[in-house]
Amino acid sequence: MGYKAKFRVWRGEGGEGRLEDFTVEVNEGEVVLDIIHRLQATQAPDLAVRWNCKAGKCGSCSMEINGKPRLGCMTRMSTFAEDETITVTPMRTFPVIKDLVTDVSFNYQKAREIPSFTPPAGVQPGEYRMQQIDVERSQEFRKCIECFMCNNVCHVIRDHEENKPAFAGPRFLMRIAELDMHPYDVVDRKDSAQEDHGLGYCNITKCCTEVCPEHIKITDNALIPMKERVVDRKYDPLVWLGDKIFKR
Ligand code: SF4
Ligand code: F3S
Ligand code: FES
Repeated sequence: MGYKAKFRVWRGEGGEGRLEDFTVEVNEGEVVLDIIHRLQATQAPDLAVRWNCKAGKCGSCSMEINGKPRLGCMTRMSTFAEDETITVTPMRTFPVIKDLVTDVSFNYQKAREIPSFTPPAGVQPGEYRMQQIDVERSQEFRKCIECFMCNNVCHVIRDHEENKPAFAGPRFLMRIAELDMHPYDVVDRKDSAQEDHGLGYCNITKCCTEVCPEHIKITDNALIPMKERVVDRKYDPLVWLGDKIFKR
């Protein structure tokens, strides 16, 4: 049965904004994005929201619902009490363009800073032979829909703009880990993970893993193993000896 819900939506642009209250109809089976669309259709035609697939697959509709990063299209209205006021705000870690739409170009910048997959010279596509376990490990990471909710929630940059230049965020530290674990990638990514992309800033709070809509075990399967690979390198006696000899 339908009912009227109380919504509080962040409106604004150019660094200014406020929460605006609405009362809006809700029908059975609807998700938060349906309600935002109804607001656009009936009360706030200029309300800005980014979305594409409405199926949890494009990663566009990331927002914060009652303070938690969520996909608007995958958050069912039935998870809230009918008399609850639902607060919808833009992702906090990225600058707001307008209303619920944030400028996520930080993430694309970080993506560009990571050297792409580099196979050994002479190995042609089609000639790669991989163990099934290596394939499965990559496949988990490749479920990422780039919603950037993990980067949004990570405390290293959520309230610390100053850390952004030095920290790629969980999404791209996971990308580095994926490439480092790939049996055919020849780039040495361990030092740069630590020195250029800020792996050391991660103190394993796992907030990124908790919000991932694809249920990727970002911390356990990517970040912690990558930290272990970096440490193994640091305490490898041959590497240590090489450093002593060549960095004098
Ligand atoms: Fe979104 Fe998960 Fe990918 Fe992070 S790892 S961008 S939370 S899908
Ligand atoms: Fe941040 Fe995830 Fe590490 S939330 S601190 S990147 S475990
Ligand atoms: Fe595509 Fe929500 S609209 S994930």
